Amino acid sequence: MKLSKVYRSPNNNFQQVKETIKKGGVTADIRLPKCNFTPQPYSVVYFVNSGSEANELAILMARIFTKNYEIISLRNGYHGMSNLTMNVTAQSHYKYPTLQAIGTHHVVNPDVYKGLWGGSKCRDSPVQALRVCSCKGSECEAKDNYIKQFKELFDYSLPKKGAAAFIAESIQGVGGTVQYPKGYLKEAADIVRKHGGLFIADEVQTGFGRTGEHFWGFEMHGLVPDIVTMAKGIGNGFPLGAVVTTPTIANALTQAAHFNTFGGNPVSCAAGLATLEIIEDEKLQENSGNVGTYLLLQLEQLRSELPIIGDVRGKGLMIGVELVAGSGTNDALPVPKFMKFWDYCREQGLIVGRGGIHGNVLRIKPPMCVTKEDADFCVKVIKKASEKILLKEDSVYVGGV
Ligand SMILES: Cc1ncc(COP(=O)(O)O)c(C=O)c1O
Repeated sequence: MKLSKVYRSPNNNFQQVKETIKKGGVTADIRLPKCNFTPQPYSVVYFVNSGSEANELAILMARIFTKNYEIISLRNGYHGMSNLTMNVTAQSHYKYPTLQAIGTHHVVNPDVYKGLWGGSKCRDSPVQALRVCSCKGSECEAKDNYIKQFKELFDYSLPKKGAAAFIAESIQGVGGTVQYPKGYLKEAADIVRKHGGLFIADEVQTGFGRTGEHFWGFEMHGLVPDIVTMAKGIGNGFPLGAVVTTPTIANALTQAAHFNTFGGNPVSCAAGLATLEIIEDEKLQENSGNVGTYLLLQLEQLRSELPIIGDVRGKGLMIGVELVAGSGTNDALPVPKFMKFWDYCREQGLIVGRGGIHGNVLRIKPPMCVTKEDADFCVKVIKKASEKILLKEDSVYVGGV
């Protein structure tokens, strides 16, 4: 995608915001039925200002509702930068020598590319990890092994009374677009429920149709969360977040107050409403599926040609390309080389994110209105950047992490 290209829909939502301001701020009506929650029991929405705040509130609700305290999350997960969510997050880049919240537990990440177990059929993606396995049909040994690890948390670390909640992204975003083995998330959520806890789906990155096939990431795991948190895509860049749950769980907040000044303000809600309408009217979920799959398959082709690309993964327009030190290894491409690669992409007009615990994953999460032409451009630049690194042309770059 060329930097010069401005992604603004013809039905520009700022127009709607302007109208709302002119009218003196009429409370906007965000019609959640458009969000296609299935099944229907989610009828309570709390509007907040960010993803971190949404997760804070979800955890507060879970603790009050269950009367349990312990929160479980996955290593390599990212859930925000407030004090509590920083502790639920399990990546050392986002941890500092500050007070660490007690009662947060991180379990082994079911990463089928780099983790202890994984195979060539694990992912719900058009592109699989290059890892041999002999699993047949719906069986997945990697999933079973990771679930065993998950169960052990209850044996060794948690009080007998159980947990308040397990929170997870449907695909890890900041962690480098990591996907879990099929069936893992549902089984893990069921285990937590058996131990008195709730499952919180963090849809801050995966929600609103980005993954193409589904409106919500959790749908690809065949599970129904107890609480869903959302932000980012909900307002197309406008500060807005939300926590959605059932009346029974929300009732917990009759015993505690959650107050913020700006949550649910009419201007943000107008932006949210307009965003939902545009996603629907312009079929952006469908576009994410079509363009995303097209891009993923082309990137897979690059992986087979270029030893610097160790893995390609994702779904829809939530894509990860893991750069490695060489063929046959999953060791991260050293940082100076990654920075050189990244800079080259930017100079060519391709902006991609960076993620993963070693900072060696290209996070491709473009606006949901990108075209196949944009995807071709993206592949062309990544190919050229890979070739430059492989040829070791002036490969010393002095840059930070
Ligand atoms: C999955 C996930 N959860 C929560 C957050 C925190 O959202 P915010 O930055 O709006 O506080 C992020 C932000 O990147 C995220 O990716």
